[in-house]
Amino acid sequence: MKNYNMSFQNLLTENKGRIAYIVINRESKLNALNKATLAELHTALTDAFKSPEVGGIIITVAGQKAFVAGADISEFAGGDAAAGGELARQGQALVFDLIENAGKPVIAAINGFALGGGLELAMACHIRIASDNAKMGLPEVTLGLIPGYGGTQRLPRLVGKGKALEMIMTADMITAGEAARYGLINHMVTMEELLPKAEEIMNKILLRAPLAIASAIRAVNAGQKDGVNGFEVEMEEFARCFNTKDLKEGVTAFSEKRKPGFKGE
Ligand code: COA
Repeated sequence: MKNYNMSFQNLLTENKGRIAYIVINRESKLNALNKATLAELHTALTDAFKSPEVGGIIITVAGQKAFVAGADISEFAGGDAAAGGELARQGQALVFDLIENAGKPVIAAINGFALGGGLELAMACHIRIASDNAKMGLPEVTLGLIPGYGGTQRLPRLVGKGKALEMIMTADMITAGEAARYGLINHMVTMEELLPKAEEIMNKILLRAPLAIASAIRAVNAGQKDGVNGFEVEMEEFARCFNTKDLKEGVTAFSEKRKPGFKGE
């Protein structure tokens, strides 16, 4: 992996074609998310979302043992409620909500342990692919905590309330096979197939109309927000697509029996 941004201490980044790879590189701590790593993730994500050359982002990690073994537990010691609240609020705004609400697709390629904040990071992504050695869980109650980066909200949406509460209250890890059965991940593959599978899915998405992809993310997310009528948002986003040149191109290409060339306009 080439590192295009040498100012990062905990990340490697590389663009391959229109895909930006963000690789968490803190292997000695099983890629645990300390404040510095979260701040760098915010910068790398923001850069990728802004860059016209980037169509989508794949988040993965260095090493094969762990995707991310959680928030960095060493930063929890000695904090009070105000500090805890700030940690959760900052992290959610800077990274987790930023990913979920992005206008470009973000795929998590999960190998090894995805625990606590690691699973929360994966759940904030739009699509999750895991290798068959992956283990996932929200073990925060073993520390006297609950998930604070969106885990209590995103896990029930993906696997249902009953299974989510079982995972959160027992703190048990589940295998990649179980995660696939529960709908927590989209695909389980071998370690060798992990990045190729993520790229295959991303490359397919990158053939589609980018503004329509952004509209689809906004419409799907809207249905999961309290007080927001997702059907209304879908109609608004559907209408918004009519203002795009890409819609004209898509419909014209269909009638001319050729592949569309979308420009994101
Ligand atoms: N925060 C900070 N450091 C972490 C960490 C975390 N969440 N998870 C692992 N590490 C560190 C360990 O402290 C250790 O560092 P050291 O070598 O300086 O002592 C290093 O990563 C390797 O981890 P280790 O525990 O020795 O590996 P293991 O193979 O014995 O166990 C796990 C792997 C994932 C089961 C274990 O590391 C673990 O339970 N981690 C915490 C998971 C968790 O509770 N996450 C939720 C946090 S909210």
